[in-house]
Amino acid sequence: MTDLHRFIKALPKAELHLHIEGSLEPEQMFELAQRNNVTLPYGSVEDIRKAYDFNNLQEFLDLYYAGMSVLQTQQDFYDLTYAYLKRVHADNCRHVEIFFDPQGHTDRGIAFSDVIEGILDALAQGQTDFGISSHLILSFLRHLSEEAAFETLAQAEPYLDRIMGVGLDSSELGHPPSKFERVFAKAREMGLKLFAHAGEEGPPEYVYEALDLLKVDRIDHGNRSLEDDDLVKRLVDEQMVLTVCPLSNLKLCVVDDLTDHPLKTMLAMGLKATVNSDDPSYFGGYLNDNYIQTADALNLTQEEIVQLVKNGFEGAYLSPDRATELMFELATAVSAFRAQ
Ligand code: ADE
Ligand code: ZN
Repeated sequence: MTDLHRFIKALPKAELHLHIEGSLEPEQMFELAQRNNVTLPYGSVEDIRKAYDFNNLQEFLDLYYAGMSVLQTQQDFYDLTYAYLKRVHADNCRHVEIFFDPQGHTDRGIAFSDVIEGILDALAQGQTDFGISSHLILSFLRHLSEEAAFETLAQAEPYLDRIMGVGLDSSELGHPPSKFERVFAKAREMGLKLFAHAGEEGPPEYVYEALDLLKVDRIDHGNRSLEDDDLVKRLVDEQMVLTVCPLSNLKLCVVDDLTDHPLKTMLAMGLKATVNSDDPSYFGGYLNDNYIQTADALNLTQEEIVQLVKNGFEGAYLSPDRATELMFELATAVSAFRAQ
């Protein structure tokens, strides 16, 4: 392990772009399939891992939605979420803001209440057991209609005090943010924060739409913003947070190689980039893996790592007390490491 790897591990961190269903590990998929009498099209854990070879976002999404079929009960959603928290606790992750895809479950006949209550109970337990603070973001599937998104938002009403915001994910190309302008306006009126995947595979125009039509508070991914100088300038001026996911970008062929990843360039341009894992069980790495592999590929400095971690805390929706606490933990960890 290099000094930089030890440095990364020592720092408290936040994760702002994580799909809880994308943390379903093959072992847990098998276990839940057995528990729920679901037949999987795989003979072993190794077969599942071998299938995770994607040429684009859609190839991943097809397996991601198929994998969800093993999630059936409130306990399953609890176990899934608790396993993720336990795993990122080992990465010294101190705060998470996680997406869930309710339509991926309600469209299979699972009750919305089972999904959200399982996840919320585990998040509460994660706070108790690991000291991880958290927020939950309800994500709309953009390949479905805006009407379906409105129905999902209505199902969320009893839980509004425990949902921080709404997001927009799934197949980006052909499903621009403009398709969801009305439902995002409604979510905004309800006091929810707004997030959208944009510029992962879609063009810079989709990032403009997310900003101007949806009025998002963060852009998820945003990689293709770099194709438009005016857009980059605007994102820098507004200090718009980008939740960047390097290993996801590699696995989904958004970049050909991690050495081509734009993260270092983004920081140099003054963009408020953060590091996240997206769907760690499908993309081969949790939060520290994303930091470490990207740091190695791009020769990131300790200062750049600290900037990324700070961006994560500043881009998170932390209470003032929690923000102070985490910034203090960060400063303490950096000093302790440098004093060694
Ligand atoms: N759903 C889960 N992961 C996603 C990603 N990286 N892009 C779009 N939709 C997703
Ligand atoms: Zn994502």
